[in-house]
Amino acid sequence: NNPPWPAYRGYHTYSFANATMGHRLPTILGKAIDDVVYTLNEQSDEDLIVDLVQCIERMDSLKSELQEHAKLRPIIDDGEADVALWNKAIVKYFRGKDFMNAPWLFAEAYKYRRLRECFSVSKYWSNYDVFFRQKCDTFSRSNEAVFELSGRFGEPFKHAENLSSSEKAESLRLMFLELTQVCLWGNSTDLSLLINMTEEQIKSLQSTGGEALAETEKNILGNHMSRLWEVVRDLNKDSVNTGGGRIDFVLDNAGFELYCDCVYADFLLQSGLASEIRFHGKRYPWFVSDVTRKDWAWLLNSMVYGQLFPKATEQEKEGLKRLGLRWKQYEKEGKWIYEQHPFWCTGYTFWEMLNEAPDLFLHLSKSDLVIFKGDLNHRKLTYDCAAPYSTSFDVSIGPMASNAGAPKVCSLRTIKSDVVVGLGSNPQEGDAIGENLDKEEPGWKISGKYAVVLLSEGRPG
Ligand code: F6P
Ligand code: MG
Repeated sequence: NNPPWPAYRGYHTYSFANATMGHRLPTILGKAIDDVVYTLNEQSDEDLIVDLVQCIERMDSLKSELQEHAKLRPIIDDGEADVALWNKAIVKYFRGKDFMNAPWLFAEAYKYRRLRECFSVSKYWSNYDVFFRQKCDTFSRSNEAVFELSGRFGEPFKHAENLSSSEKAESLRLMFLELTQVCLWGNSTDLSLLINMTEEQIKSLQSTGGEALAETEKNILGNHMSRLWEVVRDLNKDSVNTGGGRIDFVLDNAGFELYCDCVYADFLLQSGLASEIRFHGKRYPWFVSDVTRKDWAWLLNSMVYGQLFPKATEQEKEGLKRLGLRWKQYEKEGKWIYEQHPFWCTGYTFWEMLNEAPDLFLHLSKSDLVIFKGDLNHRKLTYDCAAPYSTSFDVSIGPMASNAGAPKVCSLRTIKSDVVVGLGSNPQEGDAIGENLDKEEPGWKISGKYAVVLLSEGRPG
């Protein structure tokens, strides 16, 4: 049940795994400690202070373990729903492995689980999110793109008057393609990579204009968008609910990316293509910027009541508020549902979903389309292994395509790490695209400049 290619590991010196395990993770942890120290210095209650100092001590030891390549120890039973899943993997599959020689995906996820543990065993700080300040801050610095989107999509969706039905169908298709790209490129703003980005750099990553979109489509190296459109267009026809299908988003990052996901989901619902959207988030802080329930609530409530954008015009503020109110209404009506299954915060790849979280697999198999956002989800779909560039998406996601009941799966991912599959329309072409970039543009796999939109048709149960 494993792919034939080796999984990336921290000791692969040629890989981003090596840079991440050796440098990026200790830096991320160092910044997280700074955040807690900031919070500590704002406290006055002795019990809270003493408790938080202990959290910092645990983070310091985790940082040393990481830097000394310590062995992975079992997770303390802190009451989280994922403890058994974690310890099964540590004891059964990775016994005796350390941060560098365990598969990168697992070791990196383990670090975030241990970071969680630093707080979950505390008395007063069990829900503390060391990344929350960063997440909020980046969203409030994304004002231009935020208002561009709310300006264009804030008004309820309706077709221009006097369009023939074929013109309506065409305008729907174009809008779908545009918003798919908005949703895709929203993933470029990933805080774990953008720690030192200037405001200008963030803005250029987030430009959403039509021209920019035509230009960026060239950077989608494996592109199943037109087939994706056919699938979504036909949801209305095929769905048992007749009024549109069920679409699931396995979310990635909070703030601007989540905002783009919601703009996309809003369109899918208003256009009647979907009747129900399920959003899957994380139960606790994960890979720096991933969405938790708190981030979800923060976004919607900040849009309605917040004062994040003091320089915005009244009209801009109103537009954003209207959008936020509509989204909150979807939630009340049960058209948007936020979920957080424990499996998402484990080190398992999705090749193992059916065995390790059969209830989740079954749940997703009832969806008409499951959209996986971002780099980490893509790594998990593809087993994070050294597969050739031309490997078809279906082959690279293994059981998520071939198991009976596998839903239609789409990966919207800007490329930010080693594994790259699904390029080109035949093996020669696919490998040539990747090998050429290896020569011409070293670093192309971690820049977020390139992307893939890949679709698997699933397999009826
Ligand atoms: O640390 C590397 C990584 O796991 C990569 O997958 C990616 O660079 C980043 O963290 C997370 O990206 P995303 O938020 O798109 O999953
Ligand atoms: Mg992420």
